[in-house]
Amino acid sequence: MNQKQLQIFLDVATEAALAGGAVLQSYWGNLDSIQEKGRPGDLVTAADKESERVVLDVLTRHFPDCAILAEESGAIGGSDTPYLWAIDPLDGTTNFAHQYPDFAVSIGLLVEGVPHVGVIYDPLHDKLFRAGIGLGATCNRRPIRVSQTAELAHSLLVTGFAYDRRETADNNYAEFCHLTHLTQGVRRSGSASIDLSRVACGQLDGYWERGLSPWDLAAGIVLVREAGGRVTAYDGSPFAIESGRILATNGHLHEPLSRELQQIRPLEGWANPVAEAIG
Ligand code: IPD
Ligand code: CA
Ligand code: CA
Ligand code: CA
Repeated sequence: MNQKQLQIFLDVATEAALAGGAVLQSYWGNLDSIQEKGRPGDLVTAADKESERVVLDVLTRHFPDCAILAEESGAIGGSDTPYLWAIDPLDGTTNFAHQYPDFAVSIGLLVEGVPHVGVIYDPLHDKLFRAGIGLGATCNRRPIRVSQTAELAHSLLVTGFAYDRRETADNNYAEFCHLTHLTQGVRRSGSASIDLSRVACGQLDGYWERGLSPWDLAAGIVLVREAGGRVTAYDGSPFAIESGRILATNGHLHEPLSRELQQIRPLEGWANPVAEAIG
């Protein structure tokens, strides 16, 4: 795809993210329906659904033939196209439901499985992050860069914990403890796209997480790469979006962080409450 085509995708994704963001803004502090999707704590609200509806509306109006993977609607259309929109209409639903101010609309375009375009819009703070391969990464139209931090001991990291954390020993608790000791701190925002945008603009030095979906990651990956950072699997091998497992850093910290993540095992004495409950 040439730069001009990429720019068109980027501009339409921006229009869609702004429309979704306006919906979120209208529901902020104003939610009357919060439901669980099956797992305890896995929430969905009217804001998620309405934001997704307007995002889909913009994207399908401009690109009726692209395939879509949207968190609340699932897979839609386009079986023989290389283009796939990965849409998270509200990334950070738990935060939103509690009026904790970290959430965003995240829209990424994958071409043959590779993230090419990403837009993340945080409507509360009116921050619009945009990136396209070869087009650079911006926040509110100004170029952004990853940090220069070169040692774990001087770094501030971020991670997250998937909704299945109660059902698996691979729940990221051991990694969180281990890296909290080795760094100046590990934050948890509750929104993967916000985490990636903060790595891209240098407020955080690195991010790792497991159990994610393509809609959580597609946009932020382009942003981090175009801001000069690096994105791989935990072991440094090429990133595969379907793995749900990501290591994204400023580049300088990539190898040290990858080394630490590979040597961590689940915390000793961790008891699986689900296994215990069912005997
Ligand atoms: C969640 C957030 C969170 C991450 C979860 C995601 P949602 O997305 O990105 O930071 O830890 O794994 O599922 O459900 O709020 O869109
Ligand atoms: Ca999400
Ligand atoms: Ca979501
Ligand atoms: Ca969700």
